[in-house]
Amino acid sequence: MKRKILIAIGLSAVYFGSFAYSAEVKQLPAPVVTGGMPLMDAINKRVSGRLYDKAKAVDDQTLSEILWVAWGKSASGKRTIPTARNQMNMKLYLLTTTGTWIYKPAENTLEKVNDKNLIPLTATQPFVNDAPVHLLFVAKDDAWGKCHVGSAYQNVYLYATAKGLATVVRGLIDDKALTKELGLTDGERAIIHQTVGWPEK
Ligand SMILES: Cc1cc2nc3c(=O)[nH]c(=O)nc-3n(C[C@H](O)[C@H](O)[C@H](O)COP(=O)(O)O)c2cc1C
Repeated sequence: MKRKILIAIGLSAVYFGSFAYSAEVKQLPAPVVTGGMPLMDAINKRVSGRLYDKAKAVDDQTLSEILWVAWGKSASGKRTIPTARNQMNMKLYLLTTTGTWIYKPAENTLEKVNDKNLIPLTATQPFVNDAPVHLLFVAKDDAWGKCHVGSAYQNVYLYATAKGLATVVRGLIDDKALTKELGLTDGERAIIHQTVGWPEK
């Protein structure tokens, strides 16, 4: 009897332990998906920008559009980027000093996955700490996964150009530690980081 009680206590600890983190969900404003700078101008003017205005936050509307261009649900019902065999298996995280969020394209939401500040694991260059928006692209650690991420960060570059934002994609990150912190499995890896913000005046 005593043994049965101990097993029951042990199992409930495992059960409740795995559900200990109750996710916070943030609804994003609907992205405006029409208009903007002509495409050829945006491609021609695209540059990497590393100097950000620390005092100027990125508003939720702009954040929603950054996330949408990178990995949102497009008019076709698929994604704003092509994926091999229509796998649609990239993941897009938003890193903040108070926690990590995952972007959910179908719901247009951000779902908190932990309360950790993972930005220091990306901050191998000092300017990174000045950026208000930190995107982390996660994909399968294979050629296709990396192609998906490349399409996504280029969309962010073009959107940033059109909106007058500064952005740079960054491979200099502690990808192993980020992969571990996010508990990624199934061949997934933190591939690349992208900072976005209003340019320093
Ligand atoms: C895969 C990849 C990784 C990059 N990693 C970094 C990085 O870690 N840090 C950085 O400051 N720039 C990084 N860059 C930005 C390049 O330095 C930049 O694209 C290049 O100098 C050309 O400048 P442009 O983007 O203004 O045309 C990276 C770019 C790519 C495509």
